[in-house]
Amino acid sequence: VINKLIKIASTDDPPTLFPSLGDEGREFHIGLYDQKKLRDVPLNEALRIIGGRIINHLREVGASKCFIVTHCLEEPLPDSLACIAEGMILGAYRYERFKPPRKTVSVDVSFVVKRQQASSCRTHLKNATTVATLQNTVRDIINEPPSLCGPDRFVQLVRNLVRGQDVTLQVLAATQLKKQGYVGILTVGKGADEPPAMVIVRYRGGRRGERPLVFVGKAIMFDTGGYCLKPPKDMWHMKGDMAGGAAVLGAVVALAKLQCPVNVIGIIPCAKNLVGPLAYLPGDVVTFKNGKSVHVTNTDAEGRLLLADALIRAEEERAQAVIDIATLTGSVVRALGPAVAGIMGNDHDLIRHVIEAGEEVGESFWELPLVSEYREQLKSEVADLENVGKSPNAGAIIGGLFLNEFVPKGAKWVHLDIAGPFFAEKHWRYYAPGATGFGFRTLVKIGQNLSGVIL
Ligand code: BES
Ligand code: ZN
Ligand code: ZN
Repeated sequence: VINKLIKIASTDDPPTLFPSLGDEGREFHIGLYDQKKLRDVPLNEALRIIGGRIINHLREVGASKCFIVTHCLEEPLPDSLACIAEGMILGAYRYERFKPPRKTVSVDVSFVVKRQQASSCRTHLKNATTVATLQNTVRDIINEPPSLCGPDRFVQLVRNLVRGQDVTLQVLAATQLKKQGYVGILTVGKGADEPPAMVIVRYRGGRRGERPLVFVGKAIMFDTGGYCLKPPKDMWHMKGDMAGGAAVLGAVVALAKLQCPVNVIGIIPCAKNLVGPLAYLPGDVVTFKNGKSVHVTNTDAEGRLLLADALIRAEEERAQAVIDIATLTGSVVRALGPAVAGIMGNDHDLIRHVIEAGEEVGESFWELPLVSEYREQLKSEVADLENVGKSPNAGAIIGGLFLNEFVPKGAKWVHLDIAGPFFAEKHWRYYAPGATGFGFRTLVKIGQNLSGVIL
């Protein structure tokens, strides 16, 4: 048993290599200050990164108990501690279902604070633990191999997750989808062994009758591209094409666990995009229940077909605001890379709210314009719309413009394209390689920030 004492230095201290751990016997000092490396990482995010480094270090040396002395941390202290704790829990996560079991010794972490602050710190740490632990569950679902996690298993996982929570679950199976006219989801899911579904999770923490905040999350359990087949390199990443749906699921459960005073609904259209004798084909036409017809010229642009149905459902649920989140385009990865997600929408205040919520939790969103001049690229000779644009450029924006056609009337809407940061190729900040759960904490923060706010 090695006990550790960790002292965190203040930001005013001379620059230390960030976030290296200086070893002085059993005492460790961590500097918070490094201008060169992390200029654009806000302090809160730096604290999470430190948390991740601390936990991995503690594991390396086999420590079982650790005290973190925090007198130098900036106020508000409870928030700072929550960030360190989040970083520790997220940093400890590995997907190791198929690895030999390792002797994980749990590390007992204590924060040393002044008595007056103890109770507030305790509450913050408890909430941070709830959120970060759920995010690891979200990452687990995304990391599962695709053949072990299709729509059926996903629904089972949802059931397990909401059991005992203030969350009601409704699953529209294929027969209900047919009856209710959700043809987009059915079309995309046609070629798969398992039928598609629409998963709806509801938490009512707000006033009765208050129109809900609706989260919509793309859950393509695997995206081969369909007959417009994807190239083999990195196709396996498409097991995570349900990262948006997993984030939505986690966020609704988190808001329920935190007993947040908000009415929120998560709509998660769920399907597998495969090839086979029954799969949809380029040239097929889908007529949505709102009357719009779409000529499918690319079966790999499946997410928007699925999301269109979910947006129609959001209107039926009387959404006051809709936030959709999806691994929608490779184009956004070209534009913004792996550290930043794209954001588009029809309401600047809501976009600003989401960007600010993201900043609070260390997730970056950069706005792309919904250029109306590009709308004509979606025009079709055959139907009202085509599902992809004619030019190879601005694919993320075209994706946003397509979704815009299905946004509920009178609702504020924001679209998050997380195709870049949903997955870490190598260790990133406090994330081990694999699914990050990106977007989940932003959605939770939005729910917290917007509760009681009339949009
Ligand atoms: N799921 C993909 C987008 C994606 C790419 C997510 C890379 C994560 C990483 C999506 O269904 C897709 O294939 N989009 C196409 C759209 C195109 C055909 C207009 C794309 O981006 O290539
Ligand atoms: Zn696709
Ligand atoms: Zn996809």
